[in-house]
Amino acid sequence: MSRKLLIEHAEVPGIASYETYRKHGGYASVEKALKTMSPDEVVEEVKKSGLRGRGGAGFPTGMKWSFLAKPEGVERHLVCNADESEPGTFKDRYLMEKLPHLLIEGMITSSYALGARRSYIYIRGEFMYVLRILEKAIAEAYANGMLGKNILGSGYDLDLVVTPGGGAYICGEETALLESLEGKRGNPRMKPPFPAVKGLWGNPTVVNNVESIAAVVPIVNEGGEAYAKIGIERSTGTKLISASGNLVRPGVYEIELGLSVEEFIYGDNYCRGIANGKKLKACIPGGSSVPILPHYLVTKTAAGTDRLMTYESLADGGFASGSMLGSGGFIVFDEDQCIVRNTWNFARFYAHESCGQCSPCREGTGWMEKVLYRLEHGMGTLEDISLLEEINKKIEGNTICPLGDAAAWPVAAAIRHFRDEFEWHVKSPQEAQTRNYGLIQAPLEA
Ligand SMILES: Cc1cc2nc3c(=O)[nH]c(=O)nc-3n(C[C@H](O)[C@H](O)[C@H](O)COP(=O)(O)O)c2cc1C
Repeated sequence: MSRKLLIEHAEVPGIASYETYRKHGGYASVEKALKTMSPDEVVEEVKKSGLRGRGGAGFPTGMKWSFLAKPEGVERHLVCNADESEPGTFKDRYLMEKLPHLLIEGMITSSYALGARRSYIYIRGEFMYVLRILEKAIAEAYANGMLGKNILGSGYDLDLVVTPGGGAYICGEETALLESLEGKRGNPRMKPPFPAVKGLWGNPTVVNNVESIAAVVPIVNEGGEAYAKIGIERSTGTKLISASGNLVRPGVYEIELGLSVEEFIYGDNYCRGIANGKKLKACIPGGSSVPILPHYLVTKTAAGTDRLMTYESLADGGFASGSMLGSGGFIVFDEDQCIVRNTWNFARFYAHESCGQCSPCREGTGWMEKVLYRLEHGMGTLEDISLLEEINKKIEGNTICPLGDAAAWPVAAAIRHFRDEFEWHVKSPQEAQTRNYGLIQAPLEA
């Protein structure tokens, strides 16, 4: 059973209140940091921990923090990305709903490290009830001297503001988020300059995911080195996984990075296998933006080694036979699921969510959706499959932000691994309307 550093107390009655959270050791990292450490020492601990951003890209958090520009007399900000709109990802919502004070504690300790005196939580617009939970917790933190002027007599002042998002997936992209926070339409900015140099209101800004910020709490409490001992390779610490799909026990799990995928899917402490005695057909391990893996590449890599829940192992084989840990949105498909239909469904999402700024993404996501619609509804041709591959190439790497890639990669991977199923939709359209294709064969079985 994995150690829990973040959500151990999530189900304790009343833990969303300041009093109960405090009784369970809450705000210890604020006391430790503000009373005994300099801001640079906190940054150092985060660097030593090896923590990588939990929002999807996995960029080292300590390194990101050390890039923050610190010109004299210019305000800096920490912005928490709580927009969580990636299909298949719901761990930040769980964390904020159950443990709002953990995020606030992480925000205070991290803001102190960065020298920010006005920080923000930008929360997905649809999470209005979670916003209310956070607002209540923030008011309690102010009332108890954890926010506001001269926190714990340290001379450090911090104001924390929570703002509802614009109701669009693109507003989770960090520069679109900053635009939206400034009251503008959430269009991604051209980079450079990066937010660390010119972010919110033109000030140096760090944008971090909810879980990354929460992880700063155990890192400061236990020390960066202790945190780095959990996990393997460059995947240190614990990770929240949102497990969904045809699983016996879907839900939010905190795992130690390095756990085998086999154990995660089938283990008694985790998802307990595929629901209704069905067989595993495929898995998207990191949210809708990452490549899908066919059943024979889920628990083993192409080289036959155990697939692990780490950034490295899930990416093993590159896009030919690997995927990504991404945001940890672990979606499982059983033998009854249709890959073409699912690919179309995600394509529909990306076409709807493209902000429209870049032509390859605006036009390309729309075309992909239309072509996949044809294929799924028995009107496709074999050329349509090649056309999808062509469109993919035109989008990938040709847009201001990675939404285009996020739309293209899953389609490319679905065709790469499930071409037979796509072709079957063309060759047997009537049949494809009435039954599912079932399992595809592993290349060695064929
Ligand atoms: C279209 C799009 C949507 C995104 N949505 C989110 C999101 O909801 N939450 C998040 O933390 N990161 C999201 N990201 C990634 C952010 O741009 C950014 O990398 C992240 O907030 C950095 O935090 P981290 O370093 O702590 O992971 C998204 C990126 C893209 C391209």
